[in-house]
Amino acid sequence: MAVRTILHYPDPRLREETKDVDEVTDEIRALVEDMAETMYAAPGVGLAAPQIGVAKRLFIIDVADEDEPSELRVFINPKIVKTEGTQTWREGCLSFPEVSEDIERAEVVTVQAIDEKGESFELTADGLLAVAIQHENDHLDGKLMIDHVGLLKRRIIHRKMVKRDRDGKNKRSA
Ligand code: NI
Repeated sequence: MAVRTILHYPDPRLREETKDVDEVTDEIRALVEDMAETMYAAPGVGLAAPQIGVAKRLFIIDVADEDEPSELRVFINPKIVKTEGTQTWREGCLSFPEVSEDIERAEVVTVQAIDEKGESFELTADGLLAVAIQHENDHLDGKLMIDHVGLLKRRIIHRKMVKRDRDGKNKRSA
């Protein structure tokens, strides 16, 4: 297992097209382990494969509180098949350090995916888990939190991140 480097906006790899995972092999399970180690080290509640430069349709989430046992969820080739209502959360993203914004999402989502054992499952979630599923699923389509805010905020965040990049702050690993 290894902690991988988390890519920060405006790295173009965060916008790349991703491909379905053909088969859940040991290699994919090793990738999932690296992603989990990287997410917990950050720390964050979710991480998508493109954030470590892997253009595959795969993300992980753990929304358990710090005083609760960890509950890692693995979503391979996920599809959001149903959404309901709206909710707004203050979201952050490991690819946007020190940025948080109120973003409107669906309140309830139903997602179909494959787990790390290669088994299909369907999950209906609300609250933070629903937000995390939508946020991480966006990453698989090259969509980022900055795409959900208004033009003015988008420019402010863009400038802030480009400046971080120029100052070399984006070079450090997670
Ligand atoms: Ni993110």
